[in-house]
Amino acid sequence: MVIYKAKDYQDMSRKAANIISAQIIMKPNCVLGLATGSSPVGTYKQLIEWYKKGDLDFSQVTSVNLDEYKGLSPENDQSYRYFMNTNLFDHVNIDKTRTFVPNGLEADSDKACSEYNEIIRKQGGVDLQLLGLGHNGHIGFNEPGAAFEKETHCVDLTESTIEANKRFFESEDDVPRQAYTMGIKNIMQAKKILVVVSGEDKSDILKEVLYGPITPEVPASILQLHNDVTIVADEAALSKID
Ligand code: F6R
Repeated sequence: MVIYKAKDYQDMSRKAANIISAQIIMKPNCVLGLATGSSPVGTYKQLIEWYKKGDLDFSQVTSVNLDEYKGLSPENDQSYRYFMNTNLFDHVNIDKTRTFVPNGLEADSDKACSEYNEIIRKQGGVDLQLLGLGHNGHIGFNEPGAAFEKETHCVDLTESTIEANKRFFESEDDVPRQAYTMGIKNIMQAKKILVVVSGEDKSDILKEVLYGPITPEVPASILQLHNDVTIVADEAALSKID
């Protein structure tokens, strides 16, 4: 595992974007595993900037996203498809037909999940998987639990997640109760993994993830067993590690 210390969020984003750029330059038809959330937004901004300068070409890139809310359409501004379009895809020359996000509108969970596993398999696996880290150690929507969930599955969102999300919706009833997410096995099968972590509020969990026991109670701790993980974290996130 390699850990890069960044000064702040912007520096973290620039370093992470450099790693993704290197991947795209070395293998123009690579498969990128992508994440939503606040951690990768700056990385996407930087990639867009370099694309606009003519330094990056996404025309042969394929992407598979980690997760999507069940029940939300791609047009819903809270869906992860909408997030990816507005934060990255709409601004670069990626072929949108080669950008994959679990199908939130598929009501049959087994079907949605097996179709998504098949999509990942068909791409020949993920070359570089970008991850953010949840405060409880979750990656994707793989929440702490009794076992590591392997492949794409449907999760019931916790009350605290529903509570935290309700500010984005008109009423609490509109907040999705479930999501589809890649499983730990999908994530661990990526050839390379890049984790971006920013902020003091992530410092305790980052220490646990890197140096604590490997346990499904801290899903990201499994990353200790992957042979090509790069963590790019800012000083605040690394502040509990000497
Ligand atoms: C996003 C995802 C989540 C986030 C995590 C951190 O697709 O799967 O696991 O990466 O919740 O979120 P932020 O970056 O908003 O702190």
